[in-house]
Amino acid sequence: MTADLDGVEAVVLVGGMGSRLRPLTLSVPKPMLPAAGIPVLAHLLSRIRAAGVRHVVLGTSYRAEVFAEHFGDGRCLGLQLDYVTEDEPLGTGGGIRNVAEVLSEPDVLVFNGDVLSGVDLAAVLRTHRDAAAEVTLQLVRVADPRAFGCVPTDSAGRVLAFLEKSDDPPTDLINAGCYVFRREVICSIPAGRPVSVERETFPGLLTAGARLQSHVDGSYWLDLGTPAALVAGSADLVRGIAPSAALPGSPGEALVDPGARVDPAAVLAGGCAIGAGCVIEAGARLTGSLLMDGVRVGADAVLTRSVVAAGARIGDGTVLSDAVIGEGAVVGARCELRDGVRIWPEVVLPDGGVRFSS
Ligand code: GDD
Ligand code: MG
Repeated sequence: MTADLDGVEAVVLVGGMGSRLRPLTLSVPKPMLPAAGIPVLAHLLSRIRAAGVRHVVLGTSYRAEVFAEHFGDGRCLGLQLDYVTEDEPLGTGGGIRNVAEVLSEPDVLVFNGDVLSGVDLAAVLRTHRDAAAEVTLQLVRVADPRAFGCVPTDSAGRVLAFLEKSDDPPTDLINAGCYVFRREVICSIPAGRPVSVERETFPGLLTAGARLQSHVDGSYWLDLGTPAALVAGSADLVRGIAPSAALPGSPGEALVDPGARVDPAAVLAGGCAIGAGCVIEAGARLTGSLLMDGVRVGADAVLTRSVVAAGARIGDGTVLSDAVIGEGAVVGARCELRDGVRIWPEVVLPDGGVRFSS
């Protein structure tokens, strides 16, 4: 462990239902969806490991078993991984409190499990210790803060308020979903009932006069909570725009699993990720799209910023633009699906010009 990260362990919240990503999350929990060939969570875990942290606890709930099946005890990542599962979802604060018994270090890095980021974790920890804060929150600037936790601060970076998903946010600085907690603060969260860290814990700490410090960061940041964001994040990883220590290949226009077959007369651009066992026929043109394992794309199909789940088939000449295709679905030849259209698993669309846009 580096000297900076002595006395730190990590918690990752991975228990959400991922409802905005349905139907992709019907069988796979959001942090286990692939981005650039490996689970979203694997990028975060590799970053935590690269920073020098070894003990990581996953706070699980929805589809908890999938995480342990994939990562086991964490040894393959150089980590010691523990899993603590909520029988009923306890929310973000309840999920953090629920893992307190397996923590032992004085400071705890806590992460939302659906975020891609390039923040320097040692720098976040330095901010926390220099300010002698009870909690430190990483903040980023976004164009539209309404979908996030808005966090006004004073000129010294002290947090003044926490406004989760407000219609009229007073600043463009938002909660990036990466915190340092003093462990005793975690122990003070009520146990055994749902708690929102954003709506209850942070406002409560501020009312009680606790020191909450901010760490503003300008590096890459994206919440992968929607299909559009998942596709964009995966493409950014593939092209090397989003940093990751775990990219399974070199950055470029496409990342193709060695077990996929791409016809030499197909064109892949804009950061496509092609999973194992995919077959892409001649003349197909794919831009910035994400194909999970075993997808078949017919001749002359055109896929733009679309995500296709495992085992789905896309017919010859079909056009997908910002579309989401569920597991095992069959989209016939010469269909046109645009503008965020979502096709549910196993649905079969016949050949012949079916046109959908939302
Ligand atoms: N263990 C557990 N239990 N984890 C949960 C639960 C739960 O009941 N509910 C949600 N989570 C996990 C999710 O899996 C995700 O990794 C994380 O908590 C955040 O939940 P999201 O559902 O992704 O929240 P959000 O994106 O709407 O908002 C949050 O993230 C934003 C930044 O990306 C908030 O923290 C905002 O304040 C923040 O700006
Ligand atoms: Mg999120």
